Amino acid sequence: MMSGIPSNRHADASGPAEEDVLLDVRGLCVDVDGARGPIRLVNDVSFTVRRGEAVALVGESGSGKTLTACAVMNLFATPQLRLAGGEVWLEGRNLATLGPAEMRAVRGARVGMVFQDPSSFLDPLMPVGRQIGQALRAHGRREGVEARVLELIELMELPQPAQTAAKYPHELSGGQRQRILIAAALAMDPALLIADEPTTALDVTVQAEILKLLVRLRERLRLGVLLITHDLGVVAQTCQRVNVMYAGELVERAEVGPLFGAPRHPYTQGLLRSVLGRSTRREALFSIPGGVPIAGQWPVGCRFHPRCPQAEAGRCDREAPALQDEAGSASRCHFAADPRILHAWDAAEHSSQGVTA
Ligand SMILES: Nc1ncnc2c1ncn2[C@@H]1O[C@H](COP(=O)(O)OP(=O)(O)OP(=O)(O)O)[C@@H](O)[C@H]1O
Ligand code: SF4
Ligand SMILES: [Mg+2]
Repeated sequence: MMSGIPSNRHADASGPAEEDVLLDVRGLCVDVDGARGPIRLVNDVSFTVRRGEAVALVGESGSGKTLTACAVMNLFATPQLRLAGGEVWLEGRNLATLGPAEMRAVRGARVGMVFQDPSSFLDPLMPVGRQIGQALRAHGRREGVEARVLELIELMELPQPAQTAAKYPHELSGGQRQRILIAAALAMDPALLIADEPTTALDVTVQAEILKLLVRLRERLRLGVLLITHDLGVVAQTCQRVNVMYAGELVERAEVGPLFGAPRHPYTQGLLRSVLGRSTRREALFSIPGGVPIAGQWPVGCRFHPRCPQAEAGRCDREAPALQDEAGSASRCHFAADPRILHAWDAAEHSSQGVTA
């Protein structure tokens, strides 16, 4: 593992200025202990988040998004999971080399985290203001805690901060509870917010309000946001850049406009078609045929080849493609430079499998 301050070269070839890069993740790998040795669940994932920028990690369920976020924080749900390689540069420090105590200080203070279900992270027996205060006290803050709690509640655009602070979680709506958790995550004024499916448990209108709040907070606090979602609609509303994951690897990286306008990887093209709910060839619902492979049982060659309409026998089923960077975007496909790959699903005879209705 490298030590010292990273050079001006970034794994993300979109070329952000050194001082703008807040998080620089390089070659991240996560393993889980299996009966016959370690199984690689996340492989060689690299991306950056700049200050004041929201970057998405998207992909189907099981693609490795949450594990990637856990690896950034070096915080895993079970001891069988571990950071198996890579570097996580945040504000000039490689978090992958920090010990548990140093890492605890970084979590909460420099990186805030928000998860899917607000209810499971709140104590039902404690007023929410006190719970936000705990986030401050956990990092040694003793002075002005109550004033800061009220300031945070106001920042979350919740009404009557003092009255809200005194309420118990069950007295708030789901959206309000999520705002309380965002307030707790931002209590220590972190530079980076990691939000893992922060709106999935909420209904659609509340979802939109929380996303708008995140956008305003990002702008106002110049917060870097790593937003994890399986929903490309959420990405379009919230993010500037996107990293698409498939089967534990990053398969495409691009700014939001180009990604939605001209996705380069067949998987991303398929995901977008699924969102649009229709193919361009006929008015019909579309879904990518097949499913995400079982973690660790990755197909040989390109991991997407069993589902890819452009898979070339003899190559895609044997040779793993590298992530090819070009002009700020990247695609993990042998044919990334071939213009025909931009219309992977149009050109393919996939109707019997891929078109579901
Ligand atoms: N403790 C574990 N032991 C074995 N496999 C695991 C463990 N935790 C996660 N995995 C596997 O790693 C893969 C990636 O999991 P991860 O939770 O990162 O997916 P995800 O992209 O966040 O999916 P979702 O959208 O459903 O949240 C999954 O296939 C999952 O089954
Ligand atoms: S490498 Fe082959 S199988 Fe993989 S996405 Fe490209 S064309 Fe499809
Ligand atoms: Mg997840």
